[in-house]
Amino acid sequence: MAVVGGGWVGLHAAFLAQRGGVRVAVFEAADVGSGTTGFSTAKLTTQHGLIYADLVDRHGAEAAAQYAEANTAGVELVVRLVGELGIDCDLTTASAYAYTLDPARRLDLEREVEAAQHLGLPATLEDSAGLPFDVEAAVCFAGQYHLDPVRYLDGLARALVGAGGAIYEHTRITGIEELRDQTVTLTTEHGSEHGTGHGTDHETGQGTVRANQVIVATLLPIGTLGGYFAKTRPVGAYGAAVRLRGPAPAPMTIQVDPSSWSTRPWPAAGPGGLLVIGNGHEVGSNPSGAAGGTNGGADSGDRQAQLDEWARSRFEVESVEHRWFAHDYATPDQIPYVGLSSAHRSVMVATGFRKWGLSNGAAAAIMLSDLLAGRDHGWAEPFDATRIGDAHAVSKLITDNMKVGKEFLTGRIGNDNPTCTHLGCPLHWNNADSSWDCNCHGSRFTADGAVLTGPAVKPLETPGQPYAKQAGGD
Ligand SMILES: Cc1cc2nc3c(=O)[nH]c(=O)nc-3n(C[C@H](O)[C@H](O)[C@H](O)COP(=O)(O)OP(=O)(O)OC[C@H]3O[C@@H](n4cnc5c(N)ncnc54)[C@H](O)[C@@H]3O)c2cc1C
Ligand code: FES
Repeated sequence: MAVVGGGWVGLHAAFLAQRGGVRVAVFEAADVGSGTTGFSTAKLTTQHGLIYADLVDRHGAEAAAQYAEANTAGVELVVRLVGELGIDCDLTTASAYAYTLDPARRLDLEREVEAAQHLGLPATLEDSAGLPFDVEAAVCFAGQYHLDPVRYLDGLARALVGAGGAIYEHTRITGIEELRDQTVTLTTEHGSEHGTGHGTDHETGQGTVRANQVIVATLLPIGTLGGYFAKTRPVGAYGAAVRLRGPAPAPMTIQVDPSSWSTRPWPAAGPGGLLVIGNGHEVGSNPSGAAGGTNGGADSGDRQAQLDEWARSRFEVESVEHRWFAHDYATPDQIPYVGLSSAHRSVMVATGFRKWGLSNGAAAAIMLSDLLAGRDHGWAEPFDATRIGDAHAVSKLITDNMKVGKEFLTGRIGNDNPTCTHLGCPLHWNNADSSWDCNCHGSRFTADGAVLTGPAVKPLETPGQPYAKQAGGD
């Protein structure tokens, strides 16, 4: 079996399949863990902002229970693997708080606690979120976790290779085709390539790889596979790793108001280490340029600066050590797509984690390995990767795709920015992360035109000049 993508989902799926007796090869475009996983806040929790009351309303109590059960199993799998494999990744137990500053939202939090408790989750309503400022109310989930996702995936990758699996890093897959006999051909970017990572040195073949089954775990399936690019939206956020003068608050927190700021301790930096995430928007919707962005009027550099300002206004920040922008994909009905891809019999997918892919992604790996082994775990239905969704989801899909159509058309008129190699939308310069970003489906490219994230698989033909240079900046 082949797994495309060596991130959180791909490595868990590969490891479970290999342990289940399937021979697995993972193809990773860059390095293991270098995708969104490496830029995640990495809260390993079943608390996903406020979601359970909404899931019960929209999908019914049974589907909400399946979501809660799957995510609980996802958390438990990771904690178990850390112990079993002895992975050194700063796995730390912490409470997770979802809080509001708005008195009008107290009722929403009460409803969330009630729904979560009914589903057997450890939810309580609190008046504090363990932060150095007052909040109106907070939903607390006790006994959750955070960890260093890159060190964890490195340990998992070593365990996979130790169990007989193969990992080919720096091997981008550019095409996936299911044949009539239901085997699948993968096209690799470079003809014959030696895997460079984790002790593997197998030949990948002359530009193609044949597999009986394939799991596509590339954050969003590449190219047009399964049509997932049109069934999700790319949702991004800014991150900063800071050092505080005193100890960082121990809990993990997220504000669930329109301004959504998220924090969690960063143990590797010592007692004052803190990760701060927020000021999110869709990828490519805050371009640098005279007119500013389409989302709040600020460009991406300003949005990053606002994150710093928020951190400094709330904490005694000594230094900002790292900054980044990263994204995930959201489905129109809150639940990820996991399972056999639309119109395929041997290609499986897992996407649409809405920035909660650690528990959801590990759960997806369990579902996919069960699917491979012909086992039924009872969670599959709400995650069905071929679903269209309820009337609300369909209406959102229509609105989203009309917006994409408008972006495609208007962006191409009088615009000399480079064009995305996925489906041809105009790209926007992201001066916070020095990248060309596509608002249509979230592909991102370096200033030199190399693919940073798909669904695009080909580099830019003419990268163009970053906006800052056009504008006479450095
Ligand atoms: C700012 C931010 C904060 C977040 N915080 C949290 C959190 O606290 N808790 C939580 O649960 N979730 C969080 N998430 C979400 C979570 O990080 C993601 O859902 C999860 O990491 C997705 O894992 P993945 O394996 O699907 O994707 P990725 O980690 O992106 O892995 C996909 C891999 O596929 C590779 N790839 C792509 N294209 C190809 C190709 N053509 N050929 C070969 N390989 C390819 C990439 O290089 C990459 O390594 C956050 C997300 C963001 C953006
Ligand atoms: S990501 Fe689809 S057109 Fe750019």
